[in-house]
Parts: sequence; structure tokens; C-alpha cells
Amino acid sequence: MISLRNIHKTLNGQKVLQGINLEIAEGETVVIIGRSGCGKSVTLRHILGLMRPDHGEVFFEGQNLRGLSEIELIPIRQKMGMLFQNGALFDSMSVGENIAFPLREEGKMTEEEIQSAIAEALEMVNLGGQQSKMPAELSGGMKKRVSLARATVRKPKLLLYDEPTSGLDPVVSDSINKLILNLDKTLRLTNVVVTHDMRSACEIGSRIVLLHHGKVHFLGTPEEIKSSQDPIVFRFVNGISDASVATE
Ligand SMILES: Nc1ncnc2c1ncn2[C@@H]1O[C@H](COP(=O)(O)OP(=O)(O)OP(=O)(O)O)[C@@H](O)[C@H]1O
Ligand SMILES: [Mg+2]
Repeated sequence: MISLRNIHKTLNGQKVLQGINLEIAEGETVVIIGRSGCGKSVTLRHILGLMRPDHGEVFFEGQNLRGLSEIELIPIRQKMGMLFQNGALFDSMSVGENIAFPLREEGKMTEEEIQSAIAEALEMVNLGGQQSKMPAELSGGMKKRVSLARATVRKPKLLLYDEPTSGLDPVVSDSINKLILNLDKTLRLTNVVVTHDMRSACEIGSRIVLLHHGKVHFLGTPEEIKSSQDPIVFRFVNGISDASVATE
């Protein structure tokens, strides 16, 4: 479904991606992990076509995104849903209006169809009937759920998650992970999930990718990553910093 081929990207003079190669098949859940700043969010933006590589190519369902105009990218992006790192809800809009936003933008549904799509999306994230709440009235976990409802309301084939559990306690994180697995089953999605959290990664990932120095350093099943003796993988999995001596 997605093929990243030798992606290079320099931002502000910093070589962020230095030859990323990754194939993602339809129906799988690939988790991307790696240190803060290693380029996980930048990689997701390349899949969405929001950023373009300096070198290399991104293919979606066999189509090369290189050279496509913003207008040509629209039908491709409509097959993708994205859960942004900070949730990115519109604070001045109610929950229902937030979820309706992508549908109104698309302009294909009647108001009645939109209302029933909102209700269905909220049921799916266990927030049935919460249409009229404002984002400020929601907990962090509920905001993530609303963002998820908005990301899935157009029934995408591919769902990209950027840190779906960051800032949430372990119990709420677990409920979000279960929701991700449920949505995957109900909507038959392909998922790409960026996370810092090894527990989440192992719970939801069919394969885990560790980015390091702008490249795919490791790719394997949760079992393979947990038992890896590679020093970089080992340190990440066990949360050990690579400074052997404290600097302060
Ligand atoms: N639009 C941008 N312009 C300039 N530099 C950017 C931009 N986006 C990201 N970067 C830089 O690229 C690097 C990778 O950023 P990215 O957001 O992908 O990190 P990340 O792996 O998602 O980190 P985190 O886990 O903290 O979210 C960082 O050094 C960041 O400063
Ligand atoms: Mg990020």
C-alpha cells in the first residue's frame, strides 16, 4: 500500500531523513519508534504528501506521489486519515462540528447524512451522544477519541497515528490502544502508528520499525525487537540513555 524508497529530507540544514526504505502492506499495523526528533512525524508527513522528499520516492497504492499537484493529491489524501500529535481539534467548534469538518470540506453529504455519520463515528470511539460538548470540556483521553472519530469519519483505508497515547495515563493509554485495535477490525484499516511507548508498540504492532540517524535501523515483530541484542535497539527498548557519563 505504501512504499518509501530511499527518502532523504534536509530541514533547516539538518539531515533529518537519510535514506528511509519501508514497505507497508495492506491490512498491517506498522509502528514507528525512535528517539525524540529522529524524524517520525516528518516520515508521516511524507506519506501524507504534506512534505516532499529531496531525494527518493513515495508510492501509495502503486502511484508515485512525486510531481503530483495539490489538487491531484486530494483523492489520495481522502483515502487517508490522520491523528495529529497534539490532537489538533478546533477549540471554537463543538465535538460534532469538529467531526463534521472533513465531511463538510468534501461537500458530498446532506446535513442529515453528516449528522448520522457524526453519531456513528462517536459511537465507534465510545463517546455516543457527546456531539455538543466543547473541546475545553474534555479530558485528554476524550480529546484523542474525538480526534480519532474525526480521522475515521470519511472511512479511510489508511490511518496514520502520531503519538496516540502521549500525555495519557497507562490505563487511558491502554483503552486507546484497544480502540485502535477495534477500529482496525471494524474498518479493515492499514495503520501506521508513531509512538514513544514500547508497551503500546508491542500491543498494537504487527511490525515495529526503529528509526535512528534518519534511517530504518531495525524492522521486526514485537518479539524480535524485545529479544534483539543490537545495542541501539536494546537501549531504546529498555529506556537507557546513551550517555555513559552524566553531563551535569
Ligand atoms: N517543518 C519543519 N521545519 C524545520 N525543521 C523541522 C520541521 N519539522 C521537523 N523539523 C525538524 O526535523 C527533526 C525531526 O522532527 P520530527 O517532528 O519528525 O521528530 P519526531 O521523531 O516526531 O520527534 P518527537 O518524538 O519529539 O515527536 C527535528 O529536528 C525537527 O526540529
Ligand atoms: Mg513527532
